[in-house]
Amino acid sequence: MAKKKSIHDFFNMKKAGEKVTWLTSYDFPTAQFAEEAGLDMILIGDSLGMCVYGYNGTVPVTMDQCIVHSEAVRRGAPNTFIVGDMPFMSYQTTDADAVRNAGRFLKEADVDAIKLEGGTRITSRIKAITEAGILVIGHIGLTPQSSGALGGHKAQGRTVKDAKMVVEDAFAVQEAGAQMLLVEAVPPEVAGYIAKKLSIPVYSIGAGIECDGQLLIVSDLIGQFQAFTPKFVKKYCDVASMIKKAMKEYCDEVRSGKFPQEEHCYPMKQGEKEKFFKEMS
Ligand code: KIV
Repeated sequence: MAKKKSIHDFFNMKKAGEKVTWLTSYDFPTAQFAEEAGLDMILIGDSLGMCVYGYNGTVPVTMDQCIVHSEAVRRGAPNTFIVGDMPFMSYQTTDADAVRNAGRFLKEADVDAIKLEGGTRITSRIKAITEAGILVIGHIGLTPQSSGALGGHKAQGRTVKDAKMVVEDAFAVQEAGAQMLLVEAVPPEVAGYIAKKLSIPVYSIGAGIECDGQLLIVSDLIGQFQAFTPKFVKKYCDVASMIKKAMKEYCDEVRSGKFPQEEHCYPMKQGEKEKFFKEMS
């Protein structure tokens, strides 16, 4: 079994040019699969609101939901570096709320780090959580919790003016004490520039190949999430079709009397069958 990676390993991987593999997971079995497949990191993203609960976005997700799912993921992946995602309104209010809620992830779900969205506007939260001894991962570019303010789920940094703002956010997050940075839906040139200039590892979700590693949402990667597919997603399989096919086959077999067969039943102990019918007759 591979040894659980630490923050030092991720810095060393950046120096060595070794890419980090990162996926979301929301439940025990998927976390087991991720660990067995050799993922370096798992994020219990607040995307669970859409991928698991069927909400339209991430805003309704609560701390309690994130904690319950993080606990399950930790049970499934005891030897993987796990990141808890701070849901909307768990850190936007005050530094004290941010520290308290970040601490819950560590105390209750044994995560290794927390992630929160925002750049320059969120630096005092990053500083406060870091000073409490908790590893922080910044998240800039497209930040889904503020997609309303950004005018929808839109790529960021596509003009020089906007790109400069993303770069400013990246430096602010590092300066505030974050130990890693996630850049979402930003042109590869801009994200690549950030990855080169920052000393902390910089990871991409929809921000191109020049970053120090990649994150994808597991429900997109396996073809489970049906509502929409962002441009940056590559589907590696189509579990939705596989599951629906299996379910239809099951219905057909139950209706036609093909399932269950003898091999799916528990036989009576030797000699008991005859006695049973005799006594019941
Ligand atoms: O919640 C999540 O899965 C995320 C990714 C979209 C980066 O934050």
